[in-house]
Amino acid sequence: MAILEGIQIQNYRALKDVTLGKTIEDKYVNPLPRLMAVIGANGCGKSTLLDALGFVGDCLSDGVEVACDKPHRGGFERVRTLGVNEPIKFEIRYRENPDERPINYSLWVDCDINGRPRVVRERLRQRRKGQRFGQPHPFLDLTNGSGTVWSGESTDSEEGNKSEPIRMKDRQVLGVSTLGTLSEHPRISKFRRFLSNWYLSYFVPQLARTQPTSGADPHLDRTGENLAKYLQFIERQQPKGFSAMLTRISKKIPGVRAIKAIRAPDKRLLLEFDVEGYEDKFYQQDMSDGTLKMLAYLLLMEDPDPAPLVGVEEPENGLHHQLLSDLALEFKAFAGKAKGPQVLITTHSPNFVDALSPSEVWILNKNDSGHSNLTLAADVSGVMELFMEGLPMGSLWYSNHFGIANP
Ligand SMILES: Nc1ncnc2c1ncn2[C@@H]1O[C@H](COP(=O)(O)OP(=O)(O)OP(=O)(O)O)[C@@H](O)[C@H]1O
Ligand SMILES: [Mg+2]
Repeated sequence: MAILEGIQIQNYRALKDVTLGKTIEDKYVNPLPRLMAVIGANGCGKSTLLDALGFVGDCLSDGVEVACDKPHRGGFERVRTLGVNEPIKFEIRYRENPDERPINYSLWVDCDINGRPRVVRERLRQRRKGQRFGQPHPFLDLTNGSGTVWSGESTDSEEGNKSEPIRMKDRQVLGVSTLGTLSEHPRISKFRRFLSNWYLSYFVPQLARTQPTSGADPHLDRTGENLAKYLQFIERQQPKGFSAMLTRISKKIPGVRAIKAIRAPDKRLLLEFDVEGYEDKFYQQDMSDGTLKMLAYLLLMEDPDPAPLVGVEEPENGLHHQLLSDLALEFKAFAGKAKGPQVLITTHSPNFVDALSPSEVWILNKNDSGHSNLTLAADVSGVMELFMEGLPMGSLWYSNHFGIANP
């Protein structure tokens, strides 16, 4: 199970310099937990934080120019922190599994004199086997498209791993994207797989009402638009487990007695809802936004092969406040599963964070220069003590104990 131990983001919109968890630059903090929430006032940078994670994935899959030019980003100069001339920088620390040595990845993106984004620095570093002290050694080191890569599982020369010079032809493409497809670079391949599979959810209930004519998708997509195809996939994979899963889920959605999958005459899979107070059945397109949203999150958590990192933006929108603590506990259980992902949630809901501890909640706030600061709730004076006395996180937040982050 791959783990993101920490990430530092510099010069990405309002995130001039924020660190979440442990990085090579700051080793004396705890690695990121399985479940995390980020709270803070409007405009403090919560969506930006999730978008920054999506940006790294987009750089990997589409190249840095396409990533910057996505419609919601508007190009490199809008993405880089205004007033700054340095590159956008990411420092990522991850472990392929708890027994492996951590890998540190640095990525710098800048623009050329014509304003075209390009990769200016990329470095992957890891300690050698048995090395307990000192700096990790690079096994990919690229500056302005030229550098060195070390093949194999280790950088130890006695293990027969060799270094070779490399030169990137396309400055928009990440070195880890190209080299990660080659079998002689297993560490880069694993890291590439880890980065490329992050999942960010921006659920749009209306889109989940669509019923495609056919098809099966192994994972729910960002907006939930492929909900029907995702269901189709699970049903084909595990027909017996599928109806048990629907029964399990129906118990967690208020007002719903049962959910059954039925086959329409044209072979499409339809969800049939048995709703309290009605003899007649309802179908996916009849259900309320909140019900569909809850259904989508619960289905996401049934994914047999989930993404290593799942980011969810404001799950509370459209959901009744009493459901939110339960939903938070569901996410906690999901993140705690043996093959579960790490889950990062942005929220405005005190009810949601009630299920979390001060080591799982970060507070974003803007400083006087208009840049975001990120603080772990456990580091805010007095918060840990009050929490230990029995005050839940939401109450602490609501009663202004976080001080910062409240407008
Ligand atoms: N290039 C940039 N440089 C500096 N700041 C920027 C840049 N682009 C956008 N911003 C600022 O970043 C902030 C956007 O924050 P974001 O949308 O992430 O907030 P949020 O915490 O998600 O707010 P909400 O709770 O309202 O959704 C805005 O204040 C905006 O002015
Ligand atoms: Mg937002």
